[in-house]
Formats: sequence, structure tokens, C-alpha cells
Amino acid sequence: EKGGYEHFMLKEIYEQPKAIFDTFRGRLLPDQNMIKMGGLFEYKDRFLNADRIIIVGCGTSWHAGLVGEYLFEDLARIPVEVEYASEFRYRNPVITDKDVVIAISQSGETADTLAAIKLAKQAGALIFGVCNVVGSSIARETHAGAYTHAGPEIGVASTKAFTAQVTVLALLSIQLAKLKGTLNETRYHQLLEELYSIPSKIEYMLKSDKQVRAISEKYKDAQNCLYLGRGYNFPVALEGALKLKEISYIHAEGYPAAEMKHGPIALIDENMPVFVIAPKNGQYDKIVSNIQEVKARNGKIIAIVSEGDEEIAKMADFTLEIPDSSEAFSPLLTTIPLQLLSYHIAVMRGCNVDQPRNLAKSVTVE
Ligand code: M6R
Repeated sequence: EKGGYEHFMLKEIYEQPKAIFDTFRGRLLPDQNMIKMGGLFEYKDRFLNADRIIIVGCGTSWHAGLVGEYLFEDLARIPVEVEYASEFRYRNPVITDKDVVIAISQSGETADTLAAIKLAKQAGALIFGVCNVVGSSIARETHAGAYTHAGPEIGVASTKAFTAQVTVLALLSIQLAKLKGTLNETRYHQLLEELYSIPSKIEYMLKSDKQVRAISEKYKDAQNCLYLGRGYNFPVALEGALKLKEISYIHAEGYPAAEMKHGPIALIDENMPVFVIAPKNGQYDKIVSNIQEVKARNGKIIAIVSEGDEEIAKMADFTLEIPDSSEAFSPLLTTIPLQLLSYHIAVMRGCNVDQPRNLAKSVTVE
């Protein structure tokens, strides 16, 4: 059932091109220059007249929500708040019928996320679900939604569900942008074509994990790791750190790169691996200076860079390359090497990758 892979997690990492493809199949139609999404179409006016979108989720699904915040604000110019379901529900939040709440959950059974949408529903908000498990409790509680078609995810560490969630959020935000008129025709078409090409780019990246293994070997005994990213790749830094800590038990923190100087920089010494997500079309020059700041304190830099990057390659201890893409889709690519790194490090440390201690696949208690 692991299809020849040693663990479900590895199988699921390798299934990502298919998970993303299945998620946009029948929805993303570049040839017809359109996106078809029934749930969005049905509630189009609610979305277009919404004061804001509130995204709720936990763990990795919350990270996908953060990527969604960049997508919706950048492309569709709709204000977004991303909330931990557990905080949102107990905060006496202000919700009205002008709000759209998007609940993201792989299992569709996370207790806090379910409670959060029940509360928002009572307050009159439109509830839109992004779930992987068909017919799950959260899916049933929503007014509308768009399933991720990632297939069953068995490994406790979420991998293909994350990229499938980001894919749904990309489809939604591009289509909303089109409806709102915040994207011109050329850019709209470009984005459709580009999203369509993401699975083959991931396929290409997955062909060789030699460099990832070498890096994993080098840093597997680290006690702490820092993950830095900016813009669209800030949530990827959080996700990279979560993936490492949950399966390898190495303490890891994700930060927006510019926040480093407000505290975490004090931690940097020659024993601190710093994973920096630095593709060309992000805030490249800014992140180059963040890398210099780390190097000046003898920290180790492992950078995720765009193919052919030379500037960072000169400074970094290691680099991992990703194919070119718009910044908006780069999280779908940059997250892949970070998943693989966590996987290999955990295996090298002898950890139970698919079922890490203290964790359950779906958290049905609050
Ligand atoms: O099923 P959900 O997406 O609602 O689960 C949310 C989190 O429990 C989940 O993403 C968790 O953080 C994963 N173990 C992360 O890999």
C-alpha cells in the first residue's frame, strides 16, 4: 500500500504533482481561458460583496491559509484575516453577514475548526470549506466549498494536502480577481497557464534528491534550526519548521526574514542551520542582506533559490534550486525541498516518520 516507498510520507511527497493536477482538473481550463468552480459561482455575489475574508484552520492548514492571504490580497485586492481556529472561536470575534469564512482542513474533523465555523455560521457569515475528506464534518457544516483532491493522506505530517490546499486557494483568488476586474486579461491568462505547469515543475524537482540527502546528512544532528522567508514564502518558512519539528523532534522556528533582527538573530552561531527561502522574484535583494547578516555571525545557510542563481550560491553553505515561477505560485515549489529535508533528517535520526510521538492524524479534541 506504500507503493514501493519506505514510508507514506515519502509516497505522499512524490504524489504531489498528481494531487495538484487532480485538484485543478476540470476547474483550471487554460485552453478556454477560464476557471470553473461551482461553489464559488453559486455564491459569487457574497464573495464579491464581502467586507473581508476570514480564513480559519490549524497547523499546516493554517499555513496554507496564510499563503491564501497573500493570494487574495495581492491578486483580488480583498482584505483577509487568517486565524487559528482555536483562538478565533474563544475570542468573541466580530463577525457579520458581510464576512466570508474559509475553513481549511485536510481531515475535515479538526474540533477547533469545526467549532469556529459553527460560530461564524450563526453570526451570518458565508462558510466556504476547503477539505480533503469528502463528506467530513467540516465539509457538511459549510454552505459551499471546493474539495482538494489530494487522495488519502496517511502520514501524520501533512504534505500533499498542503499543496492541494494552496492550489484551491490559488484558483479561488485568481477567479475572484477576474470577477472583480483586478487582473488584466494577459496576466489572468498567464496565471492560468503557469498554474497548469506547476505539477510538471514539481515532477522535475522530485527527480533527484541527492543534494537534499547530502544536506540532511550534514545537519541531522542539529538541535535548533531557523527557517526564514519573506512575502509569499514567509508561510513556507513556518511550514518548513513545523515539518521538521513534528517528525524529527528538532526544535525549529519559522520567521519572516526581516523579523530576525528583532530577536532570533541572538541565537545565531556556527551551530545554527538557517534555511532561507529566496527565489528570484520575491524580495530578493532584501533576503540577500538577511543572508549576509546570518553569515556575518557564522550561521550556516541552506538556501532555496531559483535555478541559475549565482549571488546567493556564493554566500550559502548549500543551495537547492527550484524552477522559475511567479512569486504567487512559488510556495508550491519551495515547500517541496523542505518536506524532503525533514523527511530525510527524520529517517536518519531513526524517527517514526509516519506516526510521530504524541501526534494524531486528526485532532478531534480541542
Ligand atoms: O485535518 P486538518 O487539516 O484540520 O489538520 C490540521 C492540523 O492538525 C495538521 O495540519 C497538523 O498540523 C499536521 N500534523 C501538520 O503536518
